[in-house]
Amino acid sequence: MKTVRLSNGVEMPQIGYGVYQVEPSECERCVSDALSVGYRMIDTAQAYHNEEGVGAAIAKSGIPRDELFVVSKVWISNYGYEKAKASISESLRKLGTDYIDLMLLHQPFCDRYGAYRALEEAYREGKLRAIGVSNFYPDNFIDLASNVEIPPMVNQVETHVFNQQIKAQKYMEEYGCRIMSWAPLAEGRNNFFTNPVLEAIGERYGKSVAQVALRWLTQRGVIIIPKSVRIERMEQNINILDFTLSDEDMAEIAKLDTGKSLFFDHHDGEVTKMFMGWR
Ligand SMILES: NC(=O)c1ccc[n+]([C@@H]2O[C@H](COP(=O)([O-])OP(=O)(O)OC[C@H]3O[C@@H](n4cnc5c(N)ncnc54)[C@H](OP(=O)(O)O)[C@@H]3O)[C@@H](O)[C@H]2O)c1
Repeated sequence: MKTVRLSNGVEMPQIGYGVYQVEPSECERCVSDALSVGYRMIDTAQAYHNEEGVGAAIAKSGIPRDELFVVSKVWISNYGYEKAKASISESLRKLGTDYIDLMLLHQPFCDRYGAYRALEEAYREGKLRAIGVSNFYPDNFIDLASNVEIPPMVNQVETHVFNQQIKAQKYMEEYGCRIMSWAPLAEGRNNFFTNPVLEAIGERYGKSVAQVALRWLTQRGVIIIPKSVRIERMEQNINILDFTLSDEDMAEIAKLDTGKSLFFDHHDGEVTKMFMGWR
């Protein structure tokens, strides 16, 4: 599996499997399927309520722990130093592991500085191998990265062909941080799977729209975690390293960028109010 090196030297698989919107009752089966077709990085979160399913699949897989890379995220209801610290212990328990490979703050709201201190402490204690953030767009990202002792090593943000995060990626790289994409397939929005540009490129290589879009992200150095509950799609989504998009293909796909979210704008007051309801 191709890896990327984080700022602390930890090697992280560039392709992983995400379990957002995977029902807790289905999660163990899905993660077992994902492991069976070759995934070694799993992305979950406290807010997905399926960390136990991830842990159960890992335990049953028989794969040595050091060959796996587990990512989770602290939810905003657990922000502030004390609550975040307790929630990290709870995630470790649910995942059935002594350490989490990468722990992120899920959202840039509430007492994120207190929560981040808990991440730094757990990192120093060896409970977390790497730490970072998610949904921290340049303003919040630069603010946090400039005011903590251990700058975020990864920032997981909405990144796909329609919202490419070119400028945000440059800021992250300036601070030694890796970009990780959520919704690499845009969750199928905006007629993603029948996009004519992606279809035409796919036909030239004998690849699906999903494979073209995922390959484009990895060629930009982006870490990806496509989600599917179907094993044949899991397999399709991981098998993307046997072809290379040309500079012309990359330039064609670059034109699809709208620079806007297909989900929600973290700078919109109504969105902030929505998150305050989920504390
Ligand atoms: N940090 C955050 O705030 C945040 C937010 C969202 C997501 N995430 C993470 O990012 C991961 C991926 O994002 P996402 O789950 O939102 O969306 P996504 O991976 O962009 O898209 C998933 C959707 O695409 C379908 N699909 C997957 N592979 C396909 C293929 N090869 N052909 C056709 N359809 C395919 C899936 O359907 P089926 O399942 O039916 O196959 C599902 O409906 C999540 O699971 C989660 O780990 C993080």
